[in-house]
Amino acid sequence: MPVIACIDDLKTLYRRKVPKMFYDYCEQGSYSEQTFHDNVQDFRQIRLRQRVARDISLRTTDTTMIGTKVAMPVALAPIGSCGMQAADGEIKAARAAAAFGVPFTLSTMSVCSIEDVAAASPDPFWFQLYVMRDEDFVDALIERARKARCSALVLTLDLQILGQRHKDVRNGLSTPPRLTLPNMIDMAFRPEWSFGMLGTPRRTFRNIVGHARNVSNLEQLSTWANGQFDPKLDWAKVVRIRDQWQGKFILKGVLDAEDARMAADAGADAIVVSNHGGRQLDGALSTIRVLPQIARAVGDRTEVWLDGGIRTGQDILKALALGAKSTLIGRSYVYGLGAMGQAGVTKALEVLQSELDITMALCGVQNARDIGPEHVLVPQDFEGRWRT
Ligand code: GLV
Repeated sequence: MPVIACIDDLKTLYRRKVPKMFYDYCEQGSYSEQTFHDNVQDFRQIRLRQRVARDISLRTTDTTMIGTKVAMPVALAPIGSCGMQAADGEIKAARAAAAFGVPFTLSTMSVCSIEDVAAASPDPFWFQLYVMRDEDFVDALIERARKARCSALVLTLDLQILGQRHKDVRNGLSTPPRLTLPNMIDMAFRPEWSFGMLGTPRRTFRNIVGHARNVSNLEQLSTWANGQFDPKLDWAKVVRIRDQWQGKFILKGVLDAEDARMAADAGADAIVVSNHGGRQLDGALSTIRVLPQIARAVGDRTEVWLDGGIRTGQDILKALALGAKSTLIGRSYVYGLGAMGQAGVTKALEVLQSELDITMALCGVQNARDIGPEHVLVPQDFEGRWRT
């Protein structure tokens, strides 16, 4: 068993274990990858304020997200094709999250279906919805999520059209993977991954195949998926979906203070400040840089969460200090999943919790709920160098 000291160690192992096309799918941003890199780098510009001689004997990382107690301010973000990173990947991640006490979000574009995860996970999970042109299919998805007792609907707003990721184009990425000679040779060098995949029936987009009209095989699936993200999605439709769902409602993909106010007006219980991990609008600001203005813009009207660039517990503390109530992690847990399956997701969560806990202690904070701007040092121009 390799020694895992940090999330980067999981990433190193992940790279060895998973076929290149899926590693590349995860570990990239769109176009020049500027925003993808900025998400991580901008955290490094913020420094932590060391405080001493404070009682730090009774620390806790627990908090709440939309009224539910969580073991730390972290949820697992929706990940497309997650079940290609490890066999039954969504089920493994959902189980790890439930055991740890943090929420798991299932993507519309998952490999394991809503029903697969509901049958295998001990706790309710959140369902992430992409609005598709096929309204009957979207209605049915919402109904399936309700039947599966999903405890929140996470509506993604920043993918009405797909930003190009060059590596996917070059790798000819598909789910299941196309069995070209280079792909087969690559898979032969990842025996654990290959045997896992051979041992599961879950190797395609199971929320879609057999559910969407006229999609019963793979060729039909790729034709369907390419044209399905709905470019007409607007705030009126967001409100209609909220009314249709009626339960806890989270809007993901907000990067602008004006949009954040509109998301609060639309009745979101929480918004996720997100640029889709730098996978959509390349050239957009990093999430940590826009967070303070968004937090100021919405105040207490909705919970503000952040994803993008979180690789350490220090990053979580910084996000909370700059105005987020909680965070979501994507790649940090996918590295663990690809490296070691369910145990790897647990490991990623343990690493982040331990780093958060020790960082809190060294900043003199006992309780994650008390993290605030007084615990960080932010460069004076951190927010102010850009003007519309
Ligand atoms: C899908 O959400 C992706 O970013 O690939």
